[in-house]
Amino acid sequence: MAILEPLSVECTSHSEEQTWRLGARLGALLPRHAVIAIQGELGAGKTSLARGIGEGWGAEQVLRSPTFTIIQAHRRPSDNAVLYHVDLYRVTSEEELHNLGLEEILDAEEGVVVIEWPERAASLIPPEAIYVKITPLSETKRHLVFSTQDTRTWQVLLEFRKRTFGF
Ligand SMILES: Nc1ncnc2c1ncn2[C@@H]1O[C@H](COP(=O)(O)OP(=O)(O)OP(=O)(O)O)[C@@H](O)[C@H]1O
Ligand SMILES: [Mg+2]
Repeated sequence: MAILEPLSVECTSHSEEQTWRLGARLGALLPRHAVIAIQGELGAGKTSLARGIGEGWGAEQVLRSPTFTIIQAHRRPSDNAVLYHVDLYRVTSEEELHNLGLEEILDAEEGVVVIEWPERAASLIPPEAIYVKITPLSETKRHLVFSTQDTRTWQVLLEFRKRTFGF
């Protein structure tokens, strides 16, 4: 039963700060290698969630909206681990995608990879990824769905649900 269905946690955020905090909760639970693919239209709140993830994970600096740099690497001082913040919005060709080196980052055994606009690299996103789909409901309300196809990664989402919603 349900093994072929993606497992998911859904919630509504009422402010940018709340989205940030959801990200921070999730970021604090990530294993050394994890992929988080954040989907949503322009201005949905992908970067807000990514910033929260970076903070909860322990990044030294606040994640920024990348302008020219498509992949930004962040370090965690406590153990020198790396988080890559990837924004594929401006990537329009297969060649450009290939030249980014994203495949190598995704294949590595270490490193957290947070990707905005993952649709641009759909074939590269591994099955153990956590997908987050953000849908604007109003000016300040967002519907968020966290999901994964992978049973091991589902444990991370279960713990996230427990810590965030208490069940
Ligand atoms: N509940 C909410 N969660 C997140 N952002 C919100 C929320 N309510 C309002 N906002 C606003 O929506 C905007 C989200 O911007 P953000 O840069 O995070 O979006 P984005 O999805 O990364 O956009 P882009 O596709 O341009 O990268 C911000 O201006 C933020 O203040
Ligand atoms: Mg963004």
